Amino acid sequence: MDKINIGLIGFGTVGVGVVRALKEKAAQLEKKAGVRLILKVICDKEFRRKRNIKVDKKLLTRDVNKILGNPDIHIVVELMGGIHPAKEFILRAIKSGQHIVTANKALLAQEGEEIFKSAQRQGVDIFFEASVGGGIPIIKSLREGLISNEIDTVLGIVNGTSNYILSAMESEDISFYDALSEAKKKGYAEKNPSLDIEGIDSAHKLAILTLLGFGFPVELGDIYIEGISNISQNDIRYAQEFGYVIKLLAIAKRVDNELEVRVHPTLLSKEHLLSSIRGVYNAIYVHGDMVGGTLFYGRGAGQNPAASSVVSDLIDLARNLKYNSIGRTPIFIRDKSIKKIRKMDEVETRYYIRFSCIDKPGVLAKISGILGKHKISIASVAQKERRKARIVPVVMMTHEAKEKNMQRALEEIDRLSAIRRKSIAIRVER
Ligand SMILES: NC(=O)c1ccc[n+]([C@@H]2O[C@H](COP(=O)([O-])OP(=O)(O)OC[C@H]3O[C@@H](n4cnc5c(N)ncnc54)[C@H](OP(=O)(O)O)[C@@H]3O)[C@@H](O)[C@H]2O)c1
Repeated sequence: MDKINIGLIGFGTVGVGVVRALKEKAAQLEKKAGVRLILKVICDKEFRRKRNIKVDKKLLTRDVNKILGNPDIHIVVELMGGIHPAKEFILRAIKSGQHIVTANKALLAQEGEEIFKSAQRQGVDIFFEASVGGGIPIIKSLREGLISNEIDTVLGIVNGTSNYILSAMESEDISFYDALSEAKKKGYAEKNPSLDIEGIDSAHKLAILTLLGFGFPVELGDIYIEGISNISQNDIRYAQEFGYVIKLLAIAKRVDNELEVRVHPTLLSKEHLLSSIRGVYNAIYVHGDMVGGTLFYGRGAGQNPAASSVVSDLIDLARNLKYNSIGRTPIFIRDKSIKKIRKMDEVETRYYIRFSCIDKPGVLAKISGILGKHKISIASVAQKERRKARIVPVVMMTHEAKEKNMQRALEEIDRLSAIRRKSIAIRVER
């Protein structure tokens, strides 16, 4: 085999980056892959939009059938995004023996099981490096570089938009909404940013990381998801005073024979490796039994970083084709020692809590009494300066407590007449 033919579906942001690299770096890529990578067809819904790249018009089509099932196309690159019809396109390609490269995290998180099984049955390769962490080679690291390890922890800052907002709130001392509008102006947040700020995008990526890192398939519904839209400037400031920063973390942890999978704002000590990840950057911390802690860092999105991963996948796949080693790297190996997903109620963490209460004697005693009743012990307390209408923020750090105890305690505390707003609890990561 001396050439591999590629069909691309989705000539958008990432698609253009991939086409540019295949065009401009053709000779280098050929040396690295050991075969020529030939882009045969580019399919999109329309070609009127300006794309800042010159391509031979003969390559362009609106007809996806020029790619799917075409025996002349060895690899289908899916960069159109969304669930339907991307899923149907990929399944059709797999059925006809075509190999797949995709960046579609939402699709793999939701429909990965069916797609991966189908690829395995048909004996085709599917590569998806750009689906998590943009240009960071975390997928390959979990599938290959760390395969000798039993992974016990994966912590990821995997959503650049949220990380940008939290970093801006901290460094510029601005509100969530000001930071969001700044992110929109700079092109770091979509017009409708809910997938990013509500933690859904991070959960998509966590589902993929968990499958690869722990050999355990999780559905989106298994993941506890909480976004950053309730984080206030005050919480960022108070966390800082306690020596912490707030990050939106995607967390997967092996605890005994169960797995915790959760996405939520998290207090991280300023000494933690992930606490210094700022702006739109992504980072994933992986801890394995042999290697210990490792950190993967880089650009989590953008045309070139994502295209870097897609083109690297193409080279990997081309090498497998050339050396007849398709299926060499299993997508994941089921770990039977993990029995189930731990219910969020049973998760134990330390907490930062902020109460907004009337400044009168006895309130603190009442709060600590309720916490104590629910087996929550306080590590430190800070009562902040009085604000309007005699309301003072009281901020606490607790020792480890069970989530269900914390939720019950907060419900009871929030019913006290001295409590004026819903109390805020943010989990702390060691
Ligand atoms: N952008 C990033 O930084 C990044 C990073 C990592 C992963 N990803 C993933 O990469 C994928 C592509 O993202 P992107 O940012 O490049 O998206 P994009 O700019 O919206 O590009 C997608 C392209 O596919 C086209 N398309 C949609 N449906 C199609 C169909 N049925 N047939 C043919 N073409 C179709 C779109 O056309 P219309 O515009 O006309 O709909 C658009 O030109 C997504 O899965 C995304 O999650 C993106």
